[in-house]
Amino acid sequence: MDTKPYIVAVFNQKGGISKTTTSTNLAVCLAAAGQSVVVIDLDSQGDSTKSLGVDPGDVAKGIYDIFTGGAEVAEVLIPSAFPNVRLLPSTYNLAGIEIRLSEMKDSQRTLSNIVNRGGLVCDYVVIDCPPALGILPINALAVANAVIIPVTATPYANDGLLRTLPSIKYVQEGLNKNLLLQGVLFTIGDRNKTARKINELIRSRLGGTVYQTEIPRDNLVIEAASAGVPICAYAPRSPAAAAHLDFTYEFLARHAKIAAKAGVELPAPAAREVALTELSRWRSDHQAMLDRPSDDRVASGKAKLDRMLYGDRTPFERFHLDVIHFFIDNRLWLMAFILVSLVVIGLMVGAGVSGARMIAAAIGLK
Ligand SMILES: Nc1ncnc2c1ncn2[C@@H]1O[C@H](COP(=O)(O)OP(=O)(O)O)[C@@H](O)[C@H]1O
Ligand SMILES: [Mg+2]
Repeated sequence: MDTKPYIVAVFNQKGGISKTTTSTNLAVCLAAAGQSVVVIDLDSQGDSTKSLGVDPGDVAKGIYDIFTGGAEVAEVLIPSAFPNVRLLPSTYNLAGIEIRLSEMKDSQRTLSNIVNRGGLVCDYVVIDCPPALGILPINALAVANAVIIPVTATPYANDGLLRTLPSIKYVQEGLNKNLLLQGVLFTIGDRNKTARKINELIRSRLGGTVYQTEIPRDNLVIEAASAGVPICAYAPRSPAAAAHLDFTYEFLARHAKIAAKAGVELPAPAAREVALTELSRWRSDHQAMLDRPSDDRVASGKAKLDRMLYGDRTPFERFHLDVIHFFIDNRLWLMAFILVSLVVIGLMVGAGVSGARMIAAAIGLK
C-alpha cells in the first residue's frame, strides 16, 4: 500500500443522519479487518471522541491546537479504546475555531498543510465532519482522497443531500481536484412507503454512487452510543452492526478498484469472519466497562456538570446558587415562598403591635 494514508471524509451538511456513527463504526471495522486507522474528530461536540472511549473534557491538547499551531500531530494523537484505532480528538473549544481560522492565511488548506508535514502514519484516516458547511468541513474535503455522504431516506435529509453535493463540487473545482465522491450510504433505514420512494428516487438519480449496503434503524445503536461504544463493538452480530461491517467491505472493495485503476494493487483485508471474531473479542474486553452500573455514569456526569457550573465556589455560594436555580426552575414555589413570607411578616407585625399595646397598657400609657 502507498505509504500515504487513504483519507476519507464523512460529510453531509445535515446533522443527525449518522455521520459520527458511520465514522466510528467504519474505523473499528477497518481496524478489525487488519488496517491501522486514525480518526479525526472535527465536531466540537466530540461525539466520535466519546464513542471511541475518550472524554473530550480529559483531553489536554486536541485538534484545535493543531489547527492553531499550538501542537504537532504527534503531540495530539492518542490511542482510542480500540486496538489499531488512534484519534485526533476534539475539545469543546473547537467551537471557536472558525473565528481563529478566518484570521489566518490559506485557512481552507490548514489541515492539508498539517497532513503534508507528515506524522499521520496509518492505512486509513477517517474524518468525522460537523454539520453545515464551515471552515472545518472545507478543510476536511480539501485534504481527503474520498468523501462518503451518509443520508437517511426522509424528505429533509434529501434536502441535505441536495445542499451537500454542490459543496463537494465546489471543492472539486478548486481546492481539491482529486476529491472523489466514493459513495452515498443510506443510514437509519425505515421500512415505510415514503422512505422507500425517497430511496428509489436517490438511487435512480445517483446510480452506482449509492452503496448497495443500507444501515437499518436499530435501537441498539442508540444504546451503544449511550454506553460510549460503536455498535460494531457493542453488539457485533446485531443487524446494524452487521450492516456497518458489510459497508466497510464494500468501501474497501471500492477503494481497491480505484487503486487498481491507478495501477496500485492493495493487499487484501482480513476475511469478514476474522474481522467479526475480532470485534466480538473487543466486545468481551469492554464487557466490564459496559456492565458498569449506569448509576455510576450518572453520578460522574453530575459531578462533572457541578464542576462546570460551580467551579471552585465555597459551599455557602453553591447553596445560594442552588436556591436561586431551584426558584428559577420552580416559579410556583417562588410565589408560594413570597406569599408565606408576606403572611409571616404580617403575623409578626401584628404580634409586635399587640405586644406593644399590652406593654403600654401594663405600664399605664393608654
Ligand atoms: N442505524 C441507526 N439506528 C438507530 N439510530 C441510529 C442509527 N444510526 C445512528 N443513530 C442515532 O441517530 C443519532 C444521530 O446519529 P449521529 O451519528 O450522531 O449523526 P450525525 O453525526 O450526523 O449528527 C444518534 O443518536 C445515533 O445514535
Ligand atoms: Mg456527528
